[in-house]
Amino acid sequence: MFITFEGIEGTGKSTQIALLKTHLEKQGHRVIVTCEPGGSRIGAELRRVLLSLENRDLCARAELFLYLADRAQHVAQVVRPALESGQIVLCDRFADSTVAYQAFGRGLDAELLHSLNTLAVDGLWPDLTILLDLEPEIGLTRAVARNHAENKTVAEGRFEAESLAFHGRVRAGYQAWAKRFPQRIKTVNASGSPADIAAEVQQLVTVRLSETPLND
Ligand code: TMP
Repeated sequence: MFITFEGIEGTGKSTQIALLKTHLEKQGHRVIVTCEPGGSRIGAELRRVLLSLENRDLCARAELFLYLADRAQHVAQVVRPALESGQIVLCDRFADSTVAYQAFGRGLDAELLHSLNTLAVDGLWPDLTILLDLEPEIGLTRAVARNHAENKTVAEGRFEAESLAFHGRVRAGYQAWAKRFPQRIKTVNASGSPADIAAEVQQLVTVRLSETPLND
């Protein structure tokens, strides 16, 4: 079972992933948590290039191909082997981030990027994608505060430095994409308490687990 989490900055993806991991492990599942960009050794190097504020001059097409390279390596080296060994994979961002950010955010063509994602994922699409939906005004404020508190503003701040309008386009893109793939992408309102959101996420995962037999 491959579950991805999506959403703009500051929606609480990592909190929800940690809560879901604990919940699933209590039920006896083996779970790994990973992320994009940076879920593989080579991906960690790409992540540094992609998120550093020093690389403000990275052009939109080069940015796109670095995300796709990160994804191809991550799928081949981390996600697919974990699924084949019967683990549940929880991934913080995946292919839908490329459509939301590089297409709806930057203005590249969404259908073309969907095709490029198909090449990068090599047949491995998530069984379930949880879209945590939140207003950019709230999410961005949280994300900027977190980067500041963790002293990551320069190392990881390239997207937090984008305008509110950019993050508004990304959010609208996610919403449009969730309508395009309603079976796979489930939207959860991320403005509630972490516990309430976690309960809704667990419900969605329970339903999907009952529909999709695990590989072990
Ligand atoms: P995060 O790991 O802190 O969420 O940061 C990753 C950033 O990279 C985030 O701002 C979204 C962005 N991103 C893209 O623009 N395209 C992608 O395909 C992915 C995976 C992430």
